[in-house]
Amino acid sequence: MAPNSLSQLVSIAPLIAALASASCSKAAATEPVATLEQIMETTVEPVSDRVFDAAVWENGVQVGGPKTEEDWKLVHANAMMLAETCNLLLTPGRAKDEGSWVVRTQAMKEAALEAAKAAEAKDTDAIFVAGGHIFQACTACHLLYIPQMVAPPSRP
Ligand code: HEC
Repeated sequence: MAPNSLSQLVSIAPLIAALASASCSKAAATEPVATLEQIMETTVEPVSDRVFDAAVWENGVQVGGPKTEEDWKLVHANAMMLAETCNLLLTPGRAKDEGSWVVRTQAMKEAALEAAKAAEAKDTDAIFVAGGHIFQACTACHLLYIPQMVAPPSRP
């Protein structure tokens, strides 16, 4: 009896292991890990800054801004990454609701993709316009979801 039940146990062990790892990897693919605050501070803000910085003028003269092929490629990559963060914001368990949160996130994604297109075309004016749309998307969501926020901050 004992050897028999042991062999039964051994034969189902791989099955249990397979089930455990399957449910584990499924959870790892969708479960939020970082807080919203951490995502904003380490990803959304720095990557959007790279897009805003691509079109800054002082006294009618553009300061900084992409010059080389590699510079434009980085602006494009940051815009794409901003669009990608929308997937993080929509992760189940992190999204605040299934209504306005989705609409606001979608608006940021569209503005980020607009900036990516402008970077691909190396079009500074278009990057500026897209940057304005991105900034509006940030502000619109903050006004809705950060209770203590009453007025939009000035554009960096
Ligand atoms: C879909 C909604 C949404 C969008 C879009 C959004 N944010 Fe946020 N953001 C939030 C929420 C909610 C918080 C408050 C997080 C918290 O502290 O729990 C926040 C907080 C922040 C913070 C403060 C983090 C801290 O220290 O507490 C910064 C900075 C920030 N966002 C930058 C941005 C920028 C820049 C953009 C646009 C490129 C943006 N956010 C777009 C929802 C959004």
